[in-house]
Amino acid sequence: DATVSDSKNLKVKLVLLGDSGVGKSCIVLRFVRGQFDPTSKVTVGASFLSQTIALKDSTTVKFEIWDTAGQERYAALAPLYYRGAAAAVVVYDITSPESFQKAQYWVKELQKHGSPDIVMALVGNKADLHENRSVPLQDATEYAEKNGMFSIETSAKTANNINQLFEEIAKRLL
Ligand code: GTP
Ligand code: MG
Repeated sequence: DATVSDSKNLKVKLVLLGDSGVGKSCIVLRFVRGQFDPTSKVTVGASFLSQTIALKDSTTVKFEIWDTAGQERYAALAPLYYRGAAAAVVVYDITSPESFQKAQYWVKELQKHGSPDIVMALVGNKADLHENRSVPLQDATEYAEKNGMFSIETSAKTANNINQLFEEIAKRLL
């Protein structure tokens, strides 16, 4: 009946992957604390944070976020963090073609070794630096479409599309 609200609470293991310096830690800091750190330090190993969001229908989604280290020396640790993850955020920097190549490497790795039903997002970060763009939006959109993932451009600096990124992931998990 009308007085009974039908709410759901979801817990989601989410992993961020991508080249060093693309802004993974800044995306997480923006999402969890609403802050931006222009002097963000490289991540060592990985770091863990969690954040809960409420969707319009009163469903809550708790993200348990593994922010991995992008430096090559940590690449072998990645499976520890993406194993069993329900969602993966693969990040590149829109000013860096190398980082877009690296993102494609991570997508392939997740397709081979991630959960078969993992929700993947391809994220072009540093969208505020559009004057120095060197990865066309269309290249990312097409790549994402071919690989059954969604793509979005974000800026951890201005907060553009950060909440939208996590909301879209939540919707796709429901
Ligand atoms: P690793 O931990 O080494 O894998 O790097 P990371 O991907 O976590 O990068 P991090 O978040 O530490 O950011 C690297 C640098 O990019 C820092 O100087 C940030 O301030 C800067 N940065 C991150 N996001 C943005 C953004 O959206 N716009 C701009 N202009 N700079 C950003
Ligand atoms: Mg980091």
